[in-house]
Amino acid sequence: MKKVTKAVIPAAGLGTRFLPFTKSIPKEMLPIVDKPTIQYIIEEIVDSGIKDILIINGRNKVVMVNHFDNVPELEFHLKQTGKEEELRIIEDISNMANIFTIRQKEAKGLGHAVLCAKEFVGDEPFAVVLGDDVVYNADKPALRQMLDVYDRFGKSVIGVQQVPRQETDKYGIISKTDVEGNIYKITDMVEKPPVDEAPSNLAVLGRYIITPEIFGILEHTGKGAGGEIQLTDALKELCGNDDVYACDFEGRRYDIGNKEGFLEATVEYGLRRPELSEAFREYLKSLDADSIK
Ligand code: UTP
Repeated sequence: MKKVTKAVIPAAGLGTRFLPFTKSIPKEMLPIVDKPTIQYIIEEIVDSGIKDILIINGRNKVVMVNHFDNVPELEFHLKQTGKEEELRIIEDISNMANIFTIRQKEAKGLGHAVLCAKEFVGDEPFAVVLGDDVVYNADKPALRQMLDVYDRFGKSVIGVQQVPRQETDKYGIISKTDVEGNIYKITDMVEKPPVDEAPSNLAVLGRYIITPEIFGILEHTGKGAGGEIQLTDALKELCGNDDVYACDFEGRRYDIGNKEGFLEATVEYGLRRPELSEAFREYLKSLDADSIK
């Protein structure tokens, strides 16, 4: 069985749910406390054992790649002024992973973005992690949980979580048969079904391990929902040709691409930070939200 050694982060979307911020800055640069979202994503990938990472980017997105580069004048300054801790943090970021990039010249959809990774990936299984889904799990990253399922079955594995029934129309939803515990075999997938037609409440949430057969499928996948080339449509076809598993991963997931999800992440990550936690918790307790005009 081929090992998964590469990950792809599609980050070329227009981020219309987060305008005006995303007019000139990618949403992947939104800071959660003091780190850009993309750093949380890359840390999860690296902590899961993958170092070769392709970022699919668009216009305005070079700033994401700069974040993982060396900044000699900053490093020199930190060294000169004895700021050892800050220097270590900055150097760790540049040494964390091997970052590659490619431009998706037009935002034609997530499926089209993944197809842009074809040359980088070659004939190997690979991970796809969306830049706007952050998952917190201090014990085992969500992607590592999924790689463990791949290592057992050697087939594509889609990350899912249970969502409230009434929210199934916001997600890709799977039909499945049970395998064991939190592992399922996918029989079908449907993008944003009406609530009363959703085949389950297991939603596809921003993490995938996909076998390279997907590229042949994406090459002929036409426009789907929203006039975009949808990854879900290609995965649905893959399910018809081969076994595709789902892993209901454990972890608190935040949708940074929408404003509520971003605010929730900011508050909860702030509470997890030892240096901020006590004072911030007190502040939140003292807050009378209704009195804020
Ligand atoms: P989304 O639909 O959540 O992102 O796509 P978006 O299009 O940027 O945001 P909205 O809906 O307009 O607010 C899911 C992921 O796929 C990437 C996005 O960057 C995001 O991480 N994507 C989407 C691409 O890389 N290229 C595309 O053409 C579309």
